[in-house]
Amino acid sequence: MIYLDNGATSFHKPAVVRQAMLRAMDRCANPGRGGYPAAMAAAETVFRCRERAADFFECESQQVVFTSNCTHGLNIAVETLVKPGARVVISGFEHNAVTRPLHTRKARIRVAGRRLFDWENTLEEFEDGLKAGADAAVFTHVSNVFGYILPVEEMAALCRQYGVPFVVDAAQSAGTLPVSLKKLGADFIAMPGHKGLLGPQGTGILLCNRLPEPLMWGGTGSESENQDMPDFLPDRAEAGTLNVVGIAGLGAGIGYLQHKGIENIYRREHQALLRCIKDLQKRGLRVFSGDHQSATISFVSNGDCEKTAQLLAESGIAVRAGLHCAPLAHESAGTLETGTVRISFGHDANPGQNEALYRAIAKIAG
Ligand code: ALA
Repeated sequence: MIYLDNGATSFHKPAVVRQAMLRAMDRCANPGRGGYPAAMAAAETVFRCRERAADFFECESQQVVFTSNCTHGLNIAVETLVKPGARVVISGFEHNAVTRPLHTRKARIRVAGRRLFDWENTLEEFEDGLKAGADAAVFTHVSNVFGYILPVEEMAALCRQYGVPFVVDAAQSAGTLPVSLKKLGADFIAMPGHKGLLGPQGTGILLCNRLPEPLMWGGTGSESENQDMPDFLPDRAEAGTLNVVGIAGLGAGIGYLQHKGIENIYRREHQALLRCIKDLQKRGLRVFSGDHQSATISFVSNGDCEKTAQLLAESGIAVRAGLHCAPLAHESAGTLETGTVRISFGHDANPGQNEALYRAIAKIAG
């Protein structure tokens, strides 16, 4: 199978991730719940991953909160910053993981910037939204549907200028593009562990620049006599036993990226993207491409998108079709009715994948 659905999850994980997980399975008990060797090994595993993530995302280790996925982190962030009825500015390319928690809190949402790959439009409308009065802003770094890389540094600077707290959804950028808590100064940055960071499913990270409101209450291994959640990080947001085996894999994934260099991986992914754009255009397909695009691309097929993805699957190519849990992004791009077929390259991008995809597309068209 040629796997081109890295936007959903990275599937071919480096061997070190699997090895780290097996080792943790054999050696680790519950972290922070005992002083015997297996509990200490678990605490050490979690600590190492936290340190590695802090180094990678430029923050202090206690600012790294482990979550079960990106959605979990986004929910904590929204719970903390968005009171019922609050005014919130978002981009036109948000995922349901952002819009549903906001909808549930009856937030008054202002969508800013609906033009794909257009930084000027994004920034102008975003600033207008902040100027009009906002209690918070939430925006994605990279669109999961179109690979549009938003000007997050400039958006962050605007939020700071207008004194608006903000959350960055790094679901599609963590592990692929540089993400720095220090540089962005975000209140929260949420990310999955299982996409660009190459860890297993069931892992995620929320980088915290402020004390979050708990989304869950329970044991933390600290302050057990206190019936409130501890008022310090990361314990406040980590109730219950952590996914130590998953965190071991996540730590190995981040270590792998540090070793290879994300800029080197990204260069390969981007080469694959550029070739893919050309190939799809050659076949006369409507392709969504532009400046500021990561290694994800959508196209509209002549027939039904789901059917095209199915035919590609039958030719051994794994892609995702439909609305990708991001109806807002499709509404912005004008593809809400049709959906798109999405191709997303990953850390193992190589010319062989492009060739196989091109052959499969040609066969379907034929
Ligand atoms: N949000 C993930 C995707 O885009 C699952 O496929």
